[in-house]
Amino acid sequence: MMTATDLRHKFLNFFKDHGHAIIPSASLIPDNDPTVLFTTAGMHPLVPFLLGETHPAGKELTSVQKCIRTGDIDEVGDSTHLTFFEMLGNWSLGAYFKTEAIDYSWQFLTDASCLALDPSRLAVSVFVGDNDAPFDEESYNHWLTKGINPERIAKLGKADNWWGPAGQTGPCGPDTEIFYWVGALPAPTHFDTEDKNWVEIWNNVFMAYRKEADGSFSELAQKNVDTGMGLERVLCVINGVSDIYQTELFSSVIARLESLSGKRYADNTKAFRVIADHIRAAVMIIGDQHGVGPSNTDQGYVVRKLIRRAVRFANQINCTDNLATSVASIFVDHFSSVYPEIASNKDKIINEILEEENKFKKTLENGLREFNKYTASLTGTEAFGLYQSFGFPLEMTMELAREKGFSVDEDGFNTELAKHQELSRTASAGKFKGGLADASEDVTKLHTATHLLQAALRQVLGHHIFQKGSNITAERLRFDFSHPDKLTPEQIAEVEQIVNKAISDALPVTYKEVSLEEARAMNALGVFESKYNERVKVYTMGDDSHYFSREICGGPHVSNTSELKSFKILKEEASSAGVRRIKAVVG
Ligand code: ALA
Repeated sequence: MMTATDLRHKFLNFFKDHGHAIIPSASLIPDNDPTVLFTTAGMHPLVPFLLGETHPAGKELTSVQKCIRTGDIDEVGDSTHLTFFEMLGNWSLGAYFKTEAIDYSWQFLTDASCLALDPSRLAVSVFVGDNDAPFDEESYNHWLTKGINPERIAKLGKADNWWGPAGQTGPCGPDTEIFYWVGALPAPTHFDTEDKNWVEIWNNVFMAYRKEADGSFSELAQKNVDTGMGLERVLCVINGVSDIYQTELFSSVIARLESLSGKRYADNTKAFRVIADHIRAAVMIIGDQHGVGPSNTDQGYVVRKLIRRAVRFANQINCTDNLATSVASIFVDHFSSVYPEIASNKDKIINEILEEENKFKKTLENGLREFNKYTASLTGTEAFGLYQSFGFPLEMTMELAREKGFSVDEDGFNTELAKHQELSRTASAGKFKGGLADASEDVTKLHTATHLLQAALRQVLGHHIFQKGSNITAERLRFDFSHPDKLTPEQIAEVEQIVNKAISDALPVTYKEVSLEEARAMNALGVFESKYNERVKVYTMGDDSHYFSREICGGPHVSNTSELKSFKILKEEASSAGVRRIKAVVG
């Protein structure tokens, strides 16, 4: 059996022997491209050089690049889709072009000293031509010289045989792809592109164009070659297995999961695959040279979703052992010899996964119990509740719902999330700045205090007072409100005294989920703009009939005002015309 290590070496050495410089894998987190979260192809870090800048290592390069594609994440669980994968590639930056590139790939695939694939099982596709670029006759003719039957050469349009970074401006061009027959032998003479037994293994892109912002294509002065061959897929093909998870890259993890769960892979393929794929991707993102741990934004949120989904599937197969040490460590060991950053970040990788896993395990069971109460499709507020109280990423709730035949109101979820974002942003900012053990608790108290403050301001100054803005850190609240004049010291003292009385009265804090109509009928303060039939939470502080404060708000809040202990205004100042600002603390 050929191992991944053999294949990486064979590939890099082949191109090195043909004059290419071996360059290390770039980071998974793109350096100069804020439009994408992850490096998705080997060419990604090379864009400036494809556009004409001089590369320090020369004009002919080769690498094994770490890649993440999250677009396919829902398909993880089948036998071929992976979140993290390695791409073998070679480049010509204005040096050789089509015929040499085709020669290299043909030689590497078929030569006895290389992969020794049977040429009678290979087929190719070339660009058919359109208004932007002509038929790729040169590639077509060159494939014929390799003895490929014209029946085995498909001519396809942009959707299949044109490559450039997705949806973006930049270098791109026609490509020619190589396919391998994995079905029953002999392989059919005709290349039917719909037949899934033809598996794409290598893509040669002739990057001679640049996509402009207006969608047009201009020719590049420098004619480049960009190629990509998925390491995992090629491993399957050369070892004659159809399931990526049966290659040496995954087999020890699958065996470990079988012994931990007491269940067989064959009976639980999806769960085993999701756990293996997701933990592997999390290892690579956290252990990257620009590593990112779990969080609620950007790459960090992807890491969080990967770990949480893996934990959920581990729970499903009764695998209670921790995945960090049992599964992640196997990947760490494998990749440590390939990517030095994985070796040096070993402890960080295990600790981050362990921490996230433990955090989520605590709430997973309760969240699932809550989820199981739902007997119909979920509203955005319900999905948001699962996210907020139990840490269920939206995608997980949607997946659970799908399993039951329900749907989830995604827009509604996002509306709820947007309402909370300011709060969570300030909560995490405060946490990192102040280093508090549990910033979120302080933030929650201050959030409740803003409701008491608004109610007190309305009592003292009048009903023209409305919230104009709010910003909460772990240390203080900042509340902006409509009022034309500076507050007098007496007014400030009175507001403080009213809020402190509400705290010492130990008012219960409760909420109800209602329609906007009902919220209005309840005299709740808040924003009444709505798209359609939105359901909202109305928080009441105090008795239902004699309440102190009532506002539309997503939460979170303390359950009793006494938790705030005391309230003090630090500062009252102008914010903008007609808007005053108060900074205050509790405790
Ligand atoms: N950049 C090309 C691809 O990813 C080779 O398929």
